[in-house]
Amino acid sequence: MPTIDLNAGALAPVATEAEYLALPVTGDIPGDLNGVLVRNGPNPLTGRFEGQGVLGWWPEAAMLHGISFEGGRATAYRNKWLRTQRCARVYEPQSVSSRPDTNPNVNVIRHAGETLALAEGGVPLPISPLLDTLKRPSRHPFATNGMTAHSKIDPETGELIMFGREFEENPLGRLHRYRIDLAPGQVQEHAVAVLGIELPRINERLTGRPYRYFYAVEQPNTSEMRGIVRYDWQSAAFERYALAPGDQNSEPVFVPRRGARTEDDGWLLSCVYRHTTATSDVVVLDARDIAAGPIATVHLPTRIPSGFHGQWLDNDHEG
Ligand SMILES: [Fe+2]
Repeated sequence: MPTIDLNAGALAPVATEAEYLALPVTGDIPGDLNGVLVRNGPNPLTGRFEGQGVLGWWPEAAMLHGISFEGGRATAYRNKWLRTQRCARVYEPQSVSSRPDTNPNVNVIRHAGETLALAEGGVPLPISPLLDTLKRPSRHPFATNGMTAHSKIDPETGELIMFGREFEENPLGRLHRYRIDLAPGQVQEHAVAVLGIELPRINERLTGRPYRYFYAVEQPNTSEMRGIVRYDWQSAAFERYALAPGDQNSEPVFVPRRGARTEDDGWLLSCVYRHTTATSDVVVLDARDIAAGPIATVHLPTRIPSGFHGQWLDNDHEG
């Protein structure tokens, strides 16, 4: 198993919860980008990883990071550990028994009026846009038996679709396309490109439907998540937003523009770790032209450590 220093660089955890208001910005944040980008990932409660490699990383305590956008400004950054039993054991031992025994550190979805932090198989926890941990899921009673972290929501019917999967030890992602023919029950696998990619996202208004573009993190090797790619299935063309060596970025989350008529009319939000300052920026890219670089960059006085997945919580959306 390859060893990685989990306490250095983009992976290094943070030791405290914090809140910063009125964040400095380079460029222009779109005026109708109103909501919170929430990120989820493992961050030990001691502020230091004990193990090594992936197996020392992913089981650690769920920490959420939220960057709030409103009226052309980046109004706030905050980070919070989920208020689980394991968090209470360290910070509030008197309330351990009243806290849920789960650690949803993988993803965030918004469904049926509830925003849920999700584990791979464990019990999810509802959260607020301010990252407070709410009581047990009220709109998803079945979830108290556990659900997976890679759920999909049908944008037309609102159905929540869950599935499980198996892990491989730190594989390098390659782009493959699967064609599933339901009538004969056949699946065709087709390798599309040798480019290493991870954490692909699409315009989720097209989940389960034909789509043309996807966006992903570029993975030049198994230890770097550096750069964003946009792939066009129609022209088979890649576009890139490149980062300097040493920097690393999170998955690109697509946010549709209000009133968008085309699939790629919107923005990509990604957290970028800058190794020279050991702080993070949040970049806003025009999804139609990512090679042009960010239209706005939010500068945080702190780091957002590498994590798993996240979600855009639009202010106009209920829940
Ligand atoms: Fe994942």
